[in-house]
Order: sequence, then C-alpha cells, then structure tokens
Amino acid sequence: MNVDGKHYTTIWVDETDDKIIQIIDQTRLPHSFEIVNLTTVNEAAAAIKEMWIRGAGLIGATAGYGMYLAALEAPENEFDDFLQLAAREFIDTRPTAKNLEWAVKRQLKAILSVQGTSEKITTAFTTAKSIAVEDAEFCRRIGEHGIHLISEISKRKKGAPVNILTHCNAGWLAFVDYGSATSPIYAAYNAGIPVHVWVDETRPRNQGASLTAWELGKHGVPHDIIVDNAGGHLMQHGMVDIAFVGADRVTTGGDAANKIGTYLKALAAVDNGVPFYVAFPSSTIDWEIKDGIKEIPIEERSEDEVRFMSGKTPEGPQTVLICPEESRARNWGFDVTPSRLITGLITERGICRASEEGLRSLYSEGYSEGTST
Ligand code: MRU
Repeated sequence: MNVDGKHYTTIWVDETDDKIIQIIDQTRLPHSFEIVNLTTVNEAAAAIKEMWIRGAGLIGATAGYGMYLAALEAPENEFDDFLQLAAREFIDTRPTAKNLEWAVKRQLKAILSVQGTSEKITTAFTTAKSIAVEDAEFCRRIGEHGIHLISEISKRKKGAPVNILTHCNAGWLAFVDYGSATSPIYAAYNAGIPVHVWVDETRPRNQGASLTAWELGKHGVPHDIIVDNAGGHLMQHGMVDIAFVGADRVTTGGDAANKIGTYLKALAAVDNGVPFYVAFPSSTIDWEIKDGIKEIPIEERSEDEVRFMSGKTPEGPQTVLICPEESRARNWGFDVTPSRLITGLITERGICRASEEGLRSLYSEGYSEGTST
C-alpha cells in the first residue's frame, strides 16, 4: 500500500543483499516511519515477540523469513536439528495467531524434503517468498469478494458514505499487503465508493489509533478514531452500516479469535442488526479444532501494557503510568467470537456462513489435508 506516494509491503528482502530481511518497525508508528534489518533467527523472533511487527499474516510471513535466516545460520553438521529448534522458538513467540505455526510448519516440511545445505537454503528462501506473496494475494482477493458487501449498502444508501466499524489493526500492516478487514474497504475506496471508517482505538496497545488510523490516512480513506466502548452507542443510532474485523485463528466451526474486545462488538452488532463480518486468509484456519472458546490458546501479555501508556509529547516520545502505583493489571490479548454472532466469513475463496458447512463449501480439501494451498 502507499506511504506518502511510495508503495510498501510490510516485509521484504533487501535489494542489495538477500541475507537481509527488512520490516517496518510498527512500535514507532504513527509518529516515526523506521525500517529495521533482520539478519538472525534471534532478531526475527524478537521482531515477533516484541511486536515490532504484529498481526496474524505478518507474524506468519516473518516466521517464514525467520526460518530462511535459520537455514543461513545453521551449522552444516547439525542443520536439521538447528532448524527444528528455530521452528520451536518461533512457534513459542506468540500463541494465538495460527498463521505463525502454519508458516513454520510449511517451511520445515519444504526444507526437510530436500537434500544438501545449499538446496535447503534455496528452498527456505523460495518458500518464505511464496508465503509472503501468497499472503498479499489472498488479502487482495478478500477485497475482491468483500467489496460487494459495501457496494450493496452504498446502492441502498443512494451513494451516501458507507460507515464501517473495525477493531484493532487488520490492515495491510497486519499482513504483507492490503490487509484482511481493510481490503474490502480499500477496494471500495479505490473504486470510488464513498466510505467512512470508525476506528476502535483498541486498548491497551492502541493498534487502531496508531496503526489503522495511520494506514487509512496514508491512503486517503476518511475515518474517525473512537474509544473502544463507543461502538455499541454508534450502532444504536444507525451510525454503523457494517463491521469488518480480522482474525488470528478461526476454528472449523467458524468461531474466530481476534483482538480483545471483538466479542463485545459482535454482541452489539447482533443486538442492533448490524452485519458483522470476519475476514481472513485460509492460513488463519485451524483445521484441528472446532470449539474456539475451549480450544483457542489466548495470549496473556504483560500487565505494563495496561498500566502504562505511551505517546508523543513536545519533548519527544513518553510513557506514563495511568493507574495507582500499587494496582496490578491483567492483560488478555484476544477473545473468541462464537460463530452464531458472525454474519459471514470473507476469505480468499469467497464469502461463506460462519459454520462447518460454510467453510467446507469453500475448503473441502482443508478438512482432510489441513492445508490452505
Ligand atoms: O496483537 P496483535 O496486534 O498481533 O493482534 C492482531 C491483530 O491485529 C488483530 O487481532 C487483528 O484484528 C487480526 S488480523 C491479523
């Protein structure tokens, strides 16, 4: 997508040295646009764990390139063991997003299926690139399918702006390009359909306020940031036409884990008759589990993300304590929206009901092979 007129993806191979992977440091946005080099397994794992990059698709793509860096680093006499250890290290960085494990396993399978160190390195490189290219392409297709939902509403509203609510950042910054929840929005905007986005700020890390607002603004899409608790009020007053959110893991039954607070938006949407769609590429589907509430691992993050807030001041970036010194906090990163609250799922293969039958209608092979390719 565009940043000040220049096309960027969120991760790429350095033009002059293919042993360097480059990312945008998302902890610096929206106030500063900084590119960081990743050259080792530890750096790639830190990028995921410390959330220099985040979002299910981009976590997967980074782990894919991380496995390539592992192949470059691996000692020849214990190559496969080194790769297995690196795989474990990546999978343990963040537990909820399925794309991470999916990308690492895809890499391991590809690398271990060929003989010879240089062949393995070449395979790791091409597989990492394929994962990234596929992520962007699948998100692009999500936009092609999802735009019809927006254009239908636009026709009904006789061209008045379609008001779309989104939570967290399921934009291009969360993937390699386009985003999942934002892809239909960008497609509609690019097609000249008037849209306006309500951006949930998304405490505690404020991915909505700092990332979604930034990327929508850079692309020119009209939007307003709202506090996390405002969505229900807006829906009651007819100010939300449709909600699009992303997902970090989706079960075979259509339950979807997404950033904490998504479930509450779905409840409000159902109560107010607002269509609520979850958009994701098939690398997010966990073919092994059905009941999201019981089976999806939910990441619990540092209490300091709740107790402190960071921002820009005239003196520079600052972090401040926002609660009593002695108060402790708990910080669950995700919640699960049960399929019964979801109007539909938008994937690279089309839109379906949030149910086993719905997913099976698009991915009949997924149930036997557990693969999205
Ligand atoms: O903790 P994050 O920022 O990695 O959370 C991921 C998300 O941005 C959201 O849950 C998002 O809506 C899912 S789309 C990849």
